[in-house]
Amino acid sequence: MKHFPAVEVIRQEMVAPDCYRLHLFAPEISASAKPGQFLHIRITPGLEPLLRRPFSVHAADRQKGEVAVLYRVVGRGTRLLAEKKKGETLDVMGPLGRGFTLPAPGQKAALVAGGIGIAPLFFLLQTLAGLKNSVHVLLGARVAKELLLIREIGAYKPSLMVATDDGSRGRRGPVTELLRELLAERKADRVYACGPTAMLKTVAALLQKHGVDGELSLEERMGCGVGACLSCVCKTSSKDGTSFAYRRVCLEGPVFPARDVIW
Ligand SMILES: Cc1cc2nc3c(=O)[nH]c(=O)nc-3n(C[C@H](O)[C@H](O)[C@H](O)COP(=O)(O)OP(=O)(O)OC[C@H]3O[C@@H](n4cnc5c(N)ncnc54)[C@H](O)[C@@H]3O)c2cc1C
Ligand code: FES
Repeated sequence: MKHFPAVEVIRQEMVAPDCYRLHLFAPEISASAKPGQFLHIRITPGLEPLLRRPFSVHAADRQKGEVAVLYRVVGRGTRLLAEKKKGETLDVMGPLGRGFTLPAPGQKAALVAGGIGIAPLFFLLQTLAGLKNSVHVLLGARVAKELLLIREIGAYKPSLMVATDDGSRGRRGPVTELLRELLAERKADRVYACGPTAMLKTVAALLQKHGVDGELSLEERMGCGVGACLSCVCKTSSKDGTSFAYRRVCLEGPVFPARDVIW
């Protein structure tokens, strides 16, 4: 098991209202992490909250031995995480789970992020920057101020398109409308998505309609994070496609082929 009981906090920054990026000194994690994998973090040494919290690896700097997670404050655990200061330590397991499959040479990749869903996709974008694939990033949020990391995404020079529910920046409406157009114009051969369940469901339906392969990063409440407690299962089609099977998001996921997920 990849367990690091005292990972040092290097810094913590607020990137948007209620959204933070936590940088950790973790050379072994940074050396081995793949986009789509996650860290299971024990936020306090005490009993509350008792369970670890899962966060996608958001970025890795192998030269500095650093990894980052990007998270939204939604409850007690994330509120306590936001209080962590430089020099404090966290008990971290990871990198865990199965990440994204990189596109084949020449394939056009599209990364579809809803809100905090950009967290793992940013690490994928970093990784794709070292390859020769053309990359589209479709970024969605409810309102402009919740669009995360636009400037940093731009630094990797993808084709970037933006959508907001209220039209305060970019296209008005769901980010999946941008994907609908991209697929109709045959500008994507492989799609990667992370975001709210409704968004992922629409992405899966669009991929099926256009016969394009894609992978989805799923989120379920987790207990152990290593396949033992079965608290994180999701319904997928069986290997031969004739029936269904429950698979563990922590171990067989969190990234699944879009065609395998049963909604
Ligand atoms: C593999 C994986 C990767 C994740 N990566 C990120 C990430 O990069 N950034 C990020 O901000 N969040 C991520 N999450 C979600 C994150 O783990 C939860 O937001 C966090 O555990 C909430 O802890 P809390 O104590 O603050 O909230 P709680 O007090 O436990 O819950 C607050 C609210 O959040 C909901 N919630 C809590 N956990 C989850 C979950 N796992 N899935 C869906 N809803 C949940 C609860 O139902 C409740 O409504 C990820 C989840 C998984 C499974
Ligand atoms: S969290 Fe325990 S099996 Fe996935």
